[in-house]
Amino acid sequence: MTGDEIREKFLSYFERNGHKRVHSSPLLPANDPTLLFVNAGMNQFKDVFLGNETRDYKRAVTAQKCIRAGGKHNDLDEVGKTARHQTFFEMLGNFSFGDYFKEDAIKFAWELMLDEFKLPLDRLWFTYFEGDDEVPADTEARDLWIKMGAAPDRVLPFGRKDNFWQMADVGPCGPNTEISYYMGDDPGDPEKNSAYWVNGPGDTTIEFWNLVFMQYNRTQNDDGSFSLTHLPAPSVDTGMGLERITTIMQHVTTNYETDLLRPLVEFAASLA
Ligand code: GLY
Repeated sequence: MTGDEIREKFLSYFERNGHKRVHSSPLLPANDPTLLFVNAGMNQFKDVFLGNETRDYKRAVTAQKCIRAGGKHNDLDEVGKTARHQTFFEMLGNFSFGDYFKEDAIKFAWELMLDEFKLPLDRLWFTYFEGDDEVPADTEARDLWIKMGAAPDRVLPFGRKDNFWQMADVGPCGPNTEISYYMGDDPGDPEKNSAYWVNGPGDTTIEFWNLVFMQYNRTQNDDGSFSLTHLPAPSVDTGMGLERITTIMQHVTTNYETDLLRPLVEFAASLA
C-alpha cells in the first residue's frame, strides 16, 4: 500500500465505525498559549475533552499535521539519529469524547492492525502504565490486550516517560498503552524480538501507535505546584505516526525511504 492508501484505510476504518472524519487543524494552534505548534491530533479537541466545548459528534478521526521541534514533545535532537523521528509528521488518530473507552479503543486497534493492515502478531509488542504514587497501574489495559489475544509476555509495564501522556505542562492527560513493532529480519530470533528492545536503544523495535486514556486535567496552582483533577468524562485520544506505519508496511528501514518522504529526498538530491 502507498502512504496515501494507508492514511485512507485508517480514516475510512474509523468512519465505518461511527467516527466523524475531521480535517487536520492548521499547525499554529488557535487560542492556546500553552503550545507553540500543534504537536498531536488531540490539540484541536482540547476544549472538548475539558468539557468547555461540545460538538455534534462524540467520535472523530483525523490525519493531523504535527510539528515536534520544541516544548514538551521535542523530537529535534533525535532527527537524523534514528530511523523514525521527524520534526514534521502526520498523526493518524481516533477520538472518543465521553463515548467509548478502553475496551473499544483496544478492540478497534486490534482489528485495524490484524485484520485491515494484516500486521503479524508475532512482531507486535504492547505496553501499559505501571503506576506510581499519583496514578494507579493500568492493569485493565494489560488484561484487555491479553483478552484480545496478545501473549502475556508481550504486554509490558513502563513508567511515566513512556506510558503517561499529556500535551503540555498543563491540560488533558492520562495513562496510555503503546504498540511497538519488531523491525528485524527474523521474528523467531529470541535475542532481537525480545522485551529488551521495546522502548530500548536503536530501531530494533519502533513504537508506532499510542492509545491515550484521557481521564485527567493537569492544572498549575498559584504556588507553582501542579494538580490532577478528573475530566468530566473518560475519553480516548490515539496517535499513530503515518510515516512509521508506512515504514512498517512498505518493509523499508527508515521513514525517509517510504513513498511519503523518498520523493522529497530525491528532489533535494537533484537540486544538490
Ligand atoms: N496524543 C497522543 C500522542 O500524541 O501520542
